[in-house]
Amino acid sequence: MRDFHYRDDAFFCEDVPLERIAKERDTPCYVYSHATLTRHFHAFDQAFAAVPHIVAFAVKANSNLAVLQLMASCGSGADIVSGGELFRALHAGIPPNKIVFAGVGKRAEEIAFALKSDILLFNVESSAELEVINDVAGGMGRQARVALRINPDVDPHTHPYISTGMKKSKFGIAADRANEAFQKAAALSHIHVIGVHAHVGSQLTHVSPFVDSLKRVIALTRNLKAQGIPIRYVNIGGGLGITYSNETPPHPNELAAAVVPLLKEADCDIILEPGRVIVGNAGVLLTRVLYRKETDAKTFVIVDAAMNDLLRPSLYDAHHDVLPVHRVPTAPEETYDVVGPVCESGDFLAQNRTMPTVKAGDLLAVMSAGAYGFTMASNYNSRPRVPEILVKGGENFVIRERETFEDLIRGERVPEFLYSTA
Ligand code: LLP
Repeated sequence: MRDFHYRDDAFFCEDVPLERIAKERDTPCYVYSHATLTRHFHAFDQAFAAVPHIVAFAVKANSNLAVLQLMASCGSGADIVSGGELFRALHAGIPPNKIVFAGVGKRAEEIAFALKSDILLFNVESSAELEVINDVAGGMGRQARVALRINPDVDPHTHPYISTGMKKSKFGIAADRANEAFQKAAALSHIHVIGVHAHVGSQLTHVSPFVDSLKRVIALTRNLKAQGIPIRYVNIGGGLGITYSNETPPHPNELAAAVVPLLKEADCDIILEPGRVIVGNAGVLLTRVLYRKETDAKTFVIVDAAMNDLLRPSLYDAHHDVLPVHRVPTAPEETYDVVGPVCESGDFLAQNRTMPTVKAGDLLAVMSAGAYGFTMASNYNSRPRVPEILVKGGENFVIRERETFEDLIRGERVPEFLYSTA
């Protein structure tokens, strides 16, 4: 995370000390680096320069409009999974002909919205969905461009909650039924089959699952072309991992070196759906220590951010480094649980973490929080969602305001009868 660094003992994002952001914007807040976002996008994009391709940024990783607008300006498309994500992507100026729509439960209205927007294609996850898309497209007098998402039954060796390409998963169409599904799709009057898609999981730290999955996809593509089904796009999904602590995931260039020879064989345009690798290490969650609490069993550092702001530690037992914003090189180390104010024992940001001693009022940076951080935040315990700040050089911009108490109750209605019986 080279744009997040110490200068002397103060922690900076680009040229802005995080302490200044805390003073100006209050805590907790997410802080993203414009330089990192831009560099990561281009590093990924350039790695695949040898094949015609579209990088469709996975909006679920970070859906802030400013981030999406930046992706659009870098030339990105979007991988979306809901009507809401389509709305955001279009709003941010991502060209519809670079938008691909995945997800096992697309509603008819979402399908109609996508057809009306003329997106590039749907990544279809079942035969039942294919029929609904055909009906909706028929009703609108349109042809729907689709890729079928196949489930290649490859073990991505990642957390089970983010593993998507094994037989037991809800995603995609089983590889051994794929041919049948493609035949069926090709026969539907309002479906135009143009692609094969596979995405095997997230936070992958080796190239082998990508290669294994791709080999199946390419064999299928060859087979389909031979049957006269004109496959134009091969989509290898997202999933490239990042370093949270001591993982050593392949660089995009290493992934490209392993898959480009296979992709060339496919003789298709390639779609890639990276999320985490672009935004994960482009953001931190900035939080302030409220209290220290010593018990017989442990010492807790209670901070103002919680599981509702960053769910990953609670949900996946995920590791995020926690760094002091003001470093004291001589500080002794202690072992803490870093926890939030939410009323759940599972509300922690780090457990049994050995780090320099901290006191109430100190600022901490929860690292690698740019992907699946804010997008998975909730209002649990009626906590307003935190602001998102974009740093560019020496400036910082609020790209999402902190929610207010009024925001919390927006849309709620108390029926008249409850007033009359009060
Ligand atoms: N394409 C599809 C079809 C996906 O389902 C996903 C992620 C991606 C692309 C992007 O994957 P990435 O490059 O970001 O790994 N909330 C979890 C991650 C869930 C990933 C869901 N699908 C986490 O915080 O680790």
